[in-house]
Amino acid sequence: MSNVAMNTDVSMAQRSALRPAFIGGGFMAQVHSVAARAAGATPSALLSSSLPNAKAAAERLGVTQAFESLDELLSSDVDVIHICSPNATHAPYALRALEAGKHVICEKPLGTNIHEAARMTELARQLGLTATVPFVYRFHPMVREARDLVRRNMLGAVLTIQGGYMQDWLMDASNDDWRVDAELGGASRVFADIGSHLCDLIEFVTDDRIVSLSSRTRVVHPNRAHNRNVTTEDLAAVIFETAGGALGTLVVSQLAPGRKNRLTIEISGQTRSLAFDQEQPESLWLGEREGSRTILRDPLLLSADAARLSRLPAGHPQGYQDAFNAFVADSYDAILGQPADGLPTFSDGLRAVRITEAVLASARSGERVSLETESTYKISADELIA
Ligand SMILES: NC(=O)c1ccc[n+]([C@@H]2O[C@H](COP(=O)([O-])OP(=O)(O)OC[C@H]3O[C@@H](n4cnc5c(N)ncnc54)[C@H](O)[C@@H]3O)[C@@H](O)[C@H]2O)c1
Repeated sequence: MSNVAMNTDVSMAQRSALRPAFIGGGFMAQVHSVAARAAGATPSALLSSSLPNAKAAAERLGVTQAFESLDELLSSDVDVIHICSPNATHAPYALRALEAGKHVICEKPLGTNIHEAARMTELARQLGLTATVPFVYRFHPMVREARDLVRRNMLGAVLTIQGGYMQDWLMDASNDDWRVDAELGGASRVFADIGSHLCDLIEFVTDDRIVSLSSRTRVVHPNRAHNRNVTTEDLAAVIFETAGGALGTLVVSQLAPGRKNRLTIEISGQTRSLAFDQEQPESLWLGEREGSRTILRDPLLLSADAARLSRLPAGHPQGYQDAFNAFVADSYDAILGQPADGLPTFSDGLRAVRITEAVLASARSGERVSLETESTYKISADELIA
């Protein structure tokens, strides 16, 4: 067990001095606050949709103080703000937090449009603050192993990429959520919500970029329990091409009976294939014409980066919360001046928003859409302060 990569005591001690605050009091605030505690910090403050909601969430999550307004939160003694509230609130909260000199961990989608996401990214860059986005699936050790295999050319030149992200929690018209409402969730629903994770993971593992795509989207339930005349998509299907010349497909749905959170990628190169399923994150399938095999997580046998993210020895399963803990620990280390490889920043969040907008644009026009090859969307100084 002594061979399992652990964070150094120095890092844990340094992280314990950080005072994180949380905006939102739902599922993600819980996951983030557990991760903050696991990293060594003490969750210090929480803001939600109202003071009673904030107090109830703070008590449930063991957060020291509940606040009624952003002004109170920002003038308190906190140094990193975790934004875990509905999508449309991300940009206003993040911009004000950055302006107040706070580091920000902002949930995806970074913004509900590219203009918001670009402003957030540019402001963080100009102020030199740490600004990260929880593309958490990057933090499964077997994803790092997959990335290492691609980097070491074990697959040969990548030819095809298949990605899927299937859930069923919105499958009936009676199911509803704030994400369904474009005012709160943004113009894209399923692609912004989960397709963004899928694209980030594919580009991260292959170290390649989607350069053009063609898509179709569907609204299956225009009228749900509360939301009527729904415009946000339930399903999306995409064909894409990468800078490296690979062809790929993506299918994303929240109406797939029996599928809870099935994010899968399969990458085929000229000599080998690999497949990863986030519901089985302890393993990776390596395909060869003669002798395919399943690689199980074992920090003694994995590449350095995969071993670093292995918090437990082989045979002691790690999962979603472990990946989140690793993401938050790496975000805090970046704040403390020790950034680790593979940390998803606002630039990556902006990239996902750019792809999401291309998916919507192609579905609208029926045409193939080219993506800009540069990672940053240009924004003028006037727009930054607008
Ligand atoms: N990275 C991931 O793996 C992942 C997973 C799920 C959700 N998310 C993202 O996290 C965010 C939150 O999702 P969730 O599943 O926790 O939603 P949720 O519905 O469980 O929680 C949202 C919380 O925000 C609060 N809230 C509503 N309006 C607010 C406002 N104006 N100011 C402050 N708080 C407000 C609500 O009271 C609630 O407590 C979303 O942006 C979502 O896309 C990310």
